[in-house]
Amino acid sequence: MKRFPNQIIRLIIPFVIIIAGLLIAKKFLVPASFGKLGHFRADALGEAMSKPIHYVGQQACADCHDEIVKKKAASYHKGVACEVCHGPGSAHVDSPTENKPPAPRDRGFCPVCHSYNPSRPTGFPQIVTVTHNPGKACISCHNAHDPVPPHAPEQCGACHGDIARTKMASPHVDVPCTVCHETPTEHRMNPRMYVPTIPANREFCGKCHAKDAQSAKEIPRIDMGTHGERYVCWECHYPHLPQVYNGAAK
Ligand code: HEC
Ligand code: HEC
Ligand code: HEC
Ligand code: HEC
Ligand code: HEC
Ligand code: HEC
Ligand code: HEC
Ligand code: HEC
Repeated sequence: MKRFPNQIIRLIIPFVIIIAGLLIAKKFLVPASFGKLGHFRADALGEAMSKPIHYVGQQACADCHDEIVKKKAASYHKGVACEVCHGPGSAHVDSPTENKPPAPRDRGFCPVCHSYNPSRPTGFPQIVTVTHNPGKACISCHNAHDPVPPHAPEQCGACHGDIARTKMASPHVDVPCTVCHETPTEHRMNPRMYVPTIPANREFCGKCHAKDAQSAKEIPRIDMGTHGERYVCWECHYPHLPQVYNGAAK
């Protein structure tokens, strides 16, 4: 009979030891209920369920604070749950008058979410706490359940400062933003949900700049058929500062 070569036997020995070790570990270390329901310890379900409940969810508050729930649901804070600000509500729901939840009335609380921080998404309402009406409680001006901004910005430049300042010093100074961007009024209150349009094609700019366009006389004209005909105009002209630098420049 052919004998296994020595090196193979040397390899087999550690394998046998490892597999035996795993089998022993499985017998003594894997919890009894593991695998009964799936790849987890079935007993964990009961243990988690037996823990005391702290958070009850917004639905529970509606039973008694209907007005506030409704008001908040239509407000900017619709995505912020009651218990984020008032803490876990279970004890309060069980006996409302004995366990009153705290209400965050002092100025330190709201900046947790609203103090200026460059890592927050653009457009998220942020303030610089030291200069924004210092010394006064936030809730003296903003209702926590319906934090309407006291007034919506009138101008595009309130939020698009760079673009507004750039255009101010450009040949397009007299072309209002809204000629090129149809802007729903809601954009000023809720910029991400209601987005303005952006010109779709060359013909848009051609409305003023084409040779035969019905626009004011002094507007510089181009031949739409031959001028940069393969590209949209803003491949070459930044629309907020449309300058022409060579001999044709003014
Ligand atoms: C079973 C009815 C009931 C439910 C459910 C309930 N509350 Fe109340 N809540 C009350 C009553 C009653 C008071 C007034 C207690 C008092 O003034 O003695 C109150 C007062 C409060 C206050 C005022 C505390 C203060 O300092 O004035 C807050 C905040 C509050 N509830 C938050 C909540 C939140 C959040 C929930 C949901 C997790 C909730 N409540 C669910 C009945 C309820
Ligand atoms: C952004 C934080 C915030 C959220 C979210 C919030 N609250 Fe409040 N709540 C406050 C603050 C701050 C006060 C204190 C207002 C005051 O004293 O003028 C308050 C006061 C209250 C009061 C007592 C005064 C009153 O207006 O009747 C109740 C009750 C209450 N909140 C319930 C709720 C419920 C229910 C929800 C969820 C639908 C909720 N709150 C969500 C911050 C919050
Ligand atoms: C858990 C985070 C969180 C906390 C705490 C919080 N807010 Fe807000 N706040 C938000 C979110 C989210 C919005 C909606 C932002 C959006 O629409 O893009 C918002 C919107 C606002 C706005 C609307 C601003 C605007 O012009 O669009 C104001 C004002 C405001 N909060 C004030 C407060 C005040 C006052 C407090 C403290 C009582 C507070 N917030 C606590 C998350 C928070
Ligand atoms: C004296 C009244 C007053 C107080 C106090 C006050 N605010 Fe304001 N807040 C305003 C006014 C007015 C505006 C809108 C004009 C502006 O942007 O300055 C505003 C705007 C905001 C905005 C929207 C900013 C944006 O860019 O959309 C947020 C968020 C805000 N406040 C949060 C707070 C927080 C948080 C506190 C407490 C630390 C607070 N405010 C205290 C009056 C106040
Ligand atoms: C309250 C602040 C605010 C005001 C006021 C505002 N915008 Fe915006 N705007 C934004 C924010 C924030 C975005 C970015 C939205 C995003 O990236 O999802 C934006 C995006 C845009 C875009 C780009 C849309 C896109 O598809 O990328 C245009 C165009 C625009 N705004 C035009 C305007 C014009 C024109 C006005 C004035 C009539 C205006 N905005 C006023 C905040 C504002
Ligand atoms: C002559 C037409 C025209 C005018 C006037 C104009 N825009 Fe634009 N805007 C455009 C075009 C075209 C684009 C798309 C540019 C691109 O995709 O490269 C654009 C893009 C944008 C964008 C998104 C891309 C970016 O550059 O951030 C914003 C925001 C914007 N415009 C805001 C404004 C505001 C605010 C004003 C007024 C101060 C304004 N625009 C005036 C034509 C115009
Ligand atoms: C509502 C009419 C109007 C629209 C639409 C318009 N423009 Fe203009 N454009 C003007 C006016 C007015 C001038 C400045 C004329 C002057 O004072 O010489 C101008 C100037 C220019 C200039 C010349 C700058 C220079 O240095 O001579 C360029 C390039 C230009 N626009 C490109 C565009 C582009 C690209 C678009 C489309 C995104 C566009 N325009 C849309 C009215 C318009
Ligand atoms: C491939 C790049 C390119 C594209 C695309 C392009 N342009 Fe130009 N544009 C230029 C250059 C370079 C000049 C300056 C040289 C010249 O007059 O030909 C210029 C000049 C202009 C001028 C000034 C003419 C004058 O007499 O002062 C206007 C207005 C203009 N372009 C508008 C547009 C419009 C509108 C579109 C889209 C329909 C457009 N351009 C597309 C590159 C381009």
